[in-house]
Amino acid sequence: MESYFPEEIIEEIKEKNDVVDVIGQYLQLKSIGTSHKALCPFHNEKTPSFNVSREKQFFKCFGCGEGGDVIGFVMKMENLDFIEAVKLLAHRANIDIEFNAPKEEMKQKYNQQKKYHMINRLAGRYFYNNLTQRSNTALNYFKQRGLNIKIIKSFGLGYSLNNWNDLLNYLKKEGYSEKDIEESGLIVKSKNKDSYYDRFRNRIMFPIFDIRGNVIGFGGRVMDDSLPKYLNSPETKLFNKSETLYGLNIARKNIVDEQVILVEGYMDVIALHQEEFKNAVATLGTSLTKGHAILLKKYCKEVVICFDGDSAGVKATLRSIEILKDTGLNIKVLILPNKMDPDDYIKKMGKIVFKEAIEKAEGYIDYKIHLAQQQFASDSVEDKVKLGKSVAKILKEVKSPIEQEAYIKKIETKIGISKDAIMAEIYGRKRPSNIDNNKYSSNYKRNNKYIESVPIIEQKGHIIAEKQLIKYMLTNPQSISSVFQRITLDDFVLEEHRIIVEYTLNHADDSEKLEKIIDYLPHITKEIKDILNIDMKEMNINNALEKYKVDITKYQLLYKRNQLKQQQSQIIANENLNKEEVEKQLLKLGMEMMSINIELQKLQTEERREHNE
Ligand code: CTP
Ligand code: MN
Repeated sequence: MESYFPEEIIEEIKEKNDVVDVIGQYLQLKSIGTSHKALCPFHNEKTPSFNVSREKQFFKCFGCGEGGDVIGFVMKMENLDFIEAVKLLAHRANIDIEFNAPKEEMKQKYNQQKKYHMINRLAGRYFYNNLTQRSNTALNYFKQRGLNIKIIKSFGLGYSLNNWNDLLNYLKKEGYSEKDIEESGLIVKSKNKDSYYDRFRNRIMFPIFDIRGNVIGFGGRVMDDSLPKYLNSPETKLFNKSETLYGLNIARKNIVDEQVILVEGYMDVIALHQEEFKNAVATLGTSLTKGHAILLKKYCKEVVICFDGDSAGVKATLRSIEILKDTGLNIKVLILPNKMDPDDYIKKMGKIVFKEAIEKAEGYIDYKIHLAQQQFASDSVEDKVKLGKSVAKILKEVKSPIEQEAYIKKIETKIGISKDAIMAEIYGRKRPSNIDNNKYSSNYKRNNKYIESVPIIEQKGHIIAEKQLIKYMLTNPQSISSVFQRITLDDFVLEEHRIIVEYTLNHADDSEKLEKIIDYLPHITKEIKDILNIDMKEMNINNALEKYKVDITKYQLLYKRNQLKQQQSQIIANENLNKEEVEKQLLKLGMEMMSINIELQKLQTEERREHNE
């Protein structure tokens, strides 16, 4: 009876239920040196002779002789049998014992799986023999589609005869029951009669392998135009379509440059492998799933999606991009012309052209932009607006500012929309209408990005300081020139503030224009009102400037610290670095971080001191 649970689980349960802790829940234990004593619960006594040892994970009563391990204690104490006691302790340690299936069941499952593998393998061999020995039509079909014997052999291609129970009879003769063959997906029960027939008849056969090279299912194709063109094994205990990629068992051993080519069909995979692109794989007539993406991520760093060059292919490409993106795989897209699929293309153009095409495949962002350009191709204002908006939406996905900027530069002239307009669209900001092309424009973006990456709470101080300083300049125009001896326009972090300051600067001598600032800058009325509403009391310019300088320094330090934090997580996540390099770089960042923290602390002490004075 004790063999009902696997030994490892019993061990785990014992490990996680310390005998001293468990017994301590029942008895008042007194620790004496390394051992623990109590009055024995199993016989009557006045002086404790019941001992528990943490080291030995054992209890022993020198009065009555009772002793054992933690399971034995619980059995005796709770009056349970072994299994019940194990279950109780498993529960106490949060071990899911139902999940850890009993030994027998595991063994059975394993044997069953082996049996299904065997049935599928026999079927595969049987189809192969049909192809090479019993059917010229099928072999000719493959030859006419350009496949040589070598590739037919390495993919184990075959043929199912035009017969209702050829395979069934063969597998029965090999000693397998109808039930087992049915559960392997190879035969089907007829609707009204209590009999079975072969699922695949008169089809060329593509065995589907798992990663370890076991046959787990089949795809079968007709040799004419009849329907359905392909028939696949149903999902079985072995065959899970959403986690299987056709060709991956071969591709994983032939990955070059950590790259996989993802195609749609069986024939695409085989045609590419024959031309030495042995890193091609396909989904099995389903769209790409998260399971597929995780699987790919195990074997490569880059996926080149090369689906059919029709509208269904485009849709499938976009869907697949969304799924692959989450895994952090590098995604490229190869577009095939004239509704060709990879099989057609490589046959028509040859492997050299295909290789070039793979090398030139564009990143998925470029691909999406490309599609947007096709969709909104005309010179009409309407199309231009739509194009700009969809490009901005695409580029919003690009997380790295450097990368984003590079894309924008690249497409600016190509799509005829200015960099500034795209930026403004991405960040949802109004573009300052009155200072087109002004010399500060490039700084707007830089400073906006500061804002994006610094948490709101940490912005507050310097933003308030900015507002106070502006209010001071607006109400004391004679001070403007002296203020600008100490700071520059670039120092202002908020874009709206720079607009206001620039206006103030330009009209320092024109008190009427300064008063009517709201009328001249209608798009930032709210910000101006905010500033005008500030209560300045008797603030003097030196204090205002000092405060501003402190706040802006603090802000810049915080910004830098944020960046360092981001760099830290990037280094930790970077799989290309070995442990040593990671430690080295982290140490360097740590030092920088420390000096920033020291600076920040200094600032805070200064602030406190000023506040107390
Ligand atoms: N497919 C399927 N069932 C269908 C049609 C297609 O499972 N009824 C799957 C197959 O895996 C097939 C893939 O989708 O390989 C792509 O379909 P399609 O482009 O129609 O076929 P090709 O692979 O191009 O096959 P062929 O070149 O032989 O026509
Ligand atoms: Mn095809």
